[in-house]
Amino acid sequence: MYEELKAVREKCLSCKKCGLAESRHNIVFDDGIPNPKLMLIGEAPGFYEDKEGKPFVGKAGQLLDKIFASVGLSRDKDVYICNTIKCRPPENRNPLPEEKEACWEYLKAQIDIIRPKMILLCGNVAVQSILGSVGGITRIRGKWFEGGENVHGAKLMPIFHPSYLLRNDSREKGSPKWLMWQDIQEIRREYDKL
Ligand code: URA
Repeated sequence: MYEELKAVREKCLSCKKCGLAESRHNIVFDDGIPNPKLMLIGEAPGFYEDKEGKPFVGKAGQLLDKIFASVGLSRDKDVYICNTIKCRPPENRNPLPEEKEACWEYLKAQIDIIRPKMILLCGNVAVQSILGSVGGITRIRGKWFEGGENVHGAKLMPIFHPSYLLRNDSREKGSPKWLMWQDIQEIRREYDKL
């Protein structure tokens, strides 16, 4: 698995298929361990990720690590982490359709190699890339979706993006942070059954 991932990463590292190749400092391919049980797909690298070449290392990433830690999971031993888009869009704008299309080959290869049993779709960009138009994240988060052939039958759960949680500080019942807490506990329960 490791050798196969390495080959895709190497191809990706010299990619010039879309305009983001001009402005990126680093390609952000993955982090965590190649775990066939649990994969998380985010949106696209931000400033710090572009600088370091690693996904989820900024504030949102630190919060993501805390969310995993709250149920005893960590990227060092339990999760394979990557993004829908491997290069930072300027000013963190939403990725363009042609950028998503150009990058799909790498995400698809990551899924094909890892063959995770469970995939967390973190934010709308990840949801759309795998599930298409199934509705906004607020309505579909926390629900399990059966993945089709594209994901080899993995169970999928859309979850809030940690950047969204950073903008919504309340922990009251029904708030985004409270909902995230329900979701991560459900994820842990299912993970333990795998
Ligand atoms: N947001 C993402 O979706 N991915 C990252 O790697 C960082 C921030």
